[in-house]
Parts: sequence; structure tokens; C-alpha cells
Amino acid sequence: MSKTIANPPPAEAVDYQESGRPQFHFTARRNWLNDPNGLVYCAGEYHLFFQHNPTDNNWGNMTWGHAVSADLVTWRQIEDAIEPDHLGTIYSGSAVIDHDNTAGFQTGAEPTIVAMYTAAGGSSPESEGQPFTQCLAYSNDRGRIWTKYARNPVLPHVVGENRDPKVIWYAPGQFWVMALFLDGESFALFTSPNLKRWNRIQTLSIPNSSECPDFFPMTVQGAPDEERWVFAAANSHYLIGRFDGAVFTEIAGPYAMDFGSNFYAAQTFSDIPPADGRRIQIGWMAGGVYPGMPFNQQMTFPTEMTLRDTPDGLRVFRSPVSEIALLVTDRSEWRDLSVSPGENPLSEISSDLLDIELEVPLDSSAVFGFRIGGREIRYAHQDQTISCLGRVARRESAEPVMHLRILADRTSLEIFVDGGRSTLSFCVTPADPRPSLEFFAEGAPVRVSSLLVRTLRSSWSETSGEFPL
Ligand code: FRU
Repeated sequence: MSKTIANPPPAEAVDYQESGRPQFHFTARRNWLNDPNGLVYCAGEYHLFFQHNPTDNNWGNMTWGHAVSADLVTWRQIEDAIEPDHLGTIYSGSAVIDHDNTAGFQTGAEPTIVAMYTAAGGSSPESEGQPFTQCLAYSNDRGRIWTKYARNPVLPHVVGENRDPKVIWYAPGQFWVMALFLDGESFALFTSPNLKRWNRIQTLSIPNSSECPDFFPMTVQGAPDEERWVFAAANSHYLIGRFDGAVFTEIAGPYAMDFGSNFYAAQTFSDIPPADGRRIQIGWMAGGVYPGMPFNQQMTFPTEMTLRDTPDGLRVFRSPVSEIALLVTDRSEWRDLSVSPGENPLSEISSDLLDIELEVPLDSSAVFGFRIGGREIRYAHQDQTISCLGRVARRESAEPVMHLRILADRTSLEIFVDGGRSTLSFCVTPADPRPSLEFFAEGAPVRVSSLLVRTLRSSWSETSGEFPL
């Protein structure tokens, strides 16, 4: 992934209302971000750490930036959590709650949050000559103060630029499991009783995939006893398999989750309370350009993942978390609408923040779509293709009714096809000053069984600043 975009930050104050700032997607208040890191829920707060350059709009000086949210929608950036040291700059990793104090870091009554990250040796003058190793940092105050483990690294260099540890608690065996990117297209699984001593149990690969593994169990929707494990790489390609604490046995895949141009390094949250039980994911919308903005790069909107049985086998589905409802300001709804070529039922809607849902019973001639700020999302049933911004994805479902959901922010489009069976994520530059919205039919009228357009408000507010809570 290229990480150099020349884009000097202006000096003036930041109020989150800049014309090129996404309004319901996370961006750093200032400067560069890339991968989401350490996604963890703790004591009523979702933590979003992120690869951050605190001093520049381009990639470099990698540090864990930090934001918190009570609802996955409204984020507040607080102080940077983990800073470079003599072992290296701070590359991607994950965080867990150490409920049983296995690492022995806990001091008070609250369980410790432990972060595991890569120290990227050689990435700064201070760390010259050091290899890439895996390290720990911990917090005993709900993620406000971070202390690096005095005996880092906990996993010495294995190979190449090995990196991006994703740790989970394996309850049946009462131990930790870490997925790590090794080199090329190979990854490894390790286990540990205490987060400090790691033992490699397996090496595996995903063709043409590298970096930022995620590894987690999911139950098949509607069949709570059917557990499978998902092993995913940064490019969204994933394997489905079984895991018994010793071996991950691949049974299907790789499949891709996202077919757009700007989806990378997604990670799922740790420690979502069982009563909630969702598998929630945030990715980096890699590669957008934000001319003249004080920040660079944005995250995806958080999605809920489900594992569903389809006629083609098990697949991971992704859809926006339901908390997006907190942002809805207005709804326009149509049922049993017929749209002829040349007509646009949405001409009155003027917002650059939208959550759209469409349901269309398909017949062979159906060609239809949206133009959002002039950007076309088009479906042609004859060849079953969804096209947008130069990408063409084949519809994967054969259901006779098509469901499309689209989130449009000022600088992104996220398209969820057939309930999220496939998704397409794109970065865009802000559209014209007056946003335009169009639903179109081509060649013949299209019968729409339902169309719902929600306009959204900004998730930023005067409380979105850098001050600690
Ligand atoms: C993925 C990645 C990771 C690495 C991080 C560095 O985008 O290259 O593999 O840890 O970014 O910022």
C-alpha cells in the first residue's frame, strides 16, 4: 500500500467542519492515519487506536493515536497512547482485556487493557539496527495511561518484517492466541498462557495476501451451535475453518469481503460484551486524497459481521452497525415505485451525508443505479455486475430480489450488496457545493419495491477535541 501523499497541513485551527472532512467516518484531528489498531471495548467505551504520524500529513513516525466512543459513531480523540522508542516505531497490533490478570500487570480492581504491537526496528534513527519484534504495553486506568512492558520484546524477531499481532483469548483452553503476519503471503499462529511467552503452533498462507491478520470465531447465523473460525488478511481475503486450540483447519476460501478500491487492514473488536455479542469491524479506507485538509486518511464506518449459510456455502456478510440510526435527521420512503428512464424520484434531496436502502425485484432487463454527487453506482442484471468508479464486481447472490445499501459521506461511498454479502468501499473527493442525488433506470422502467433515503447529521461536535475525558 502506498503511503506517500504530499498534502501539507494548513496551520489554522481544526473544527471538524472543513469541507473535505468526512462527517461520520473517523479521521485524525490532524495528520496522517492508517490501520485501525487495538480495537477493544472496556467499561462502556470503544477504543480505536490507529497508526498515526503525530507530526505530519504523510506516513511516518508511527505512533498509536487514540480515540474513544460510547456509541461507535461519535469519537473523541485523546492523547496518543504508544510512542516510538529505541526498539522501533510503533506498528499495528491489537488490544485485549486481561480479565484473569494472566500477565500480572493489574494493580487495582479494574482489569488491565494489554496492547500488543510491533516495534518496527530500523524505522527510526533511534532504533537503527534493531529487528521487527512484538511488544506489550498496558493500561490500568481504562486506557488513559500506557506503560510499556519493561522486558519487551515478548516475541523476538521471527523472519523479515514480521508484524501486526492480533491477540484473542481462547476460552476453551484458557490461553491466548496470536495471529501474526510473517513475510510474503505467510502468517503464523502462536499461543501463550500470559501474553509474555509465545509458542508457534502453525504457519499458514493466503494467496496474494499479506499484513494485518485477524482471527476470530463466529457462529453461523441461525445455528448458534455451528462455530467456525475466520482468518483474514489486510486485503479482506479470508479463510473459513475450524480451530481446536492447536490447529486451524481450513475448510473454505479464500473469499474477498470487499471489492472496492479503498478497503484495507480491517480489524474486529475484542471484548464486546456477550450480551451484545456482535463481531464489529473497522477498516482503513486506504488511498483517499484530502487536498488542503489538516488530516490525511479515514476509517470505514464500523460494520457488524455475520456468518451466513448461502447456496454457495458459508460467507461473511458486513453491514453498518445499527448505531448509525443515532445520526438520522430525516427519512424519505417509497414503496412500489416505478421509475422510467429519464425520471429521478430523488431530485429534491440535497445532502452529502446519506444512508440509502433499495430493494428491487430483478428481471432480466433491469439496469439501474444511483448518482451520488455525480458518481455512478450501476447494476446491470444481464451480466450481474455492479460498477462504480472504475471497479466492476459480480453480484454474488442469485436471490430474485436485490438489496443495496449505500453510505455516502463527503469523501467516501460504501456499498453493501445483498445484505452485505459483498461490499465495495471507495474514497472520493468532495462533490460540488450543492450535493445531488439521483436514482436512475436505463433502457426500461424499473420497479422498486422499496427505497429509503435517510439524511444524516455530522457525528463531530465541539466535544470532539483532543482533550482527555
Ligand atoms: C498495513 C501496514 C502494517 C504495518 C503498518 C505500518 O497498512 O503496513 O503491516 O504494521 O501498516 O504503519
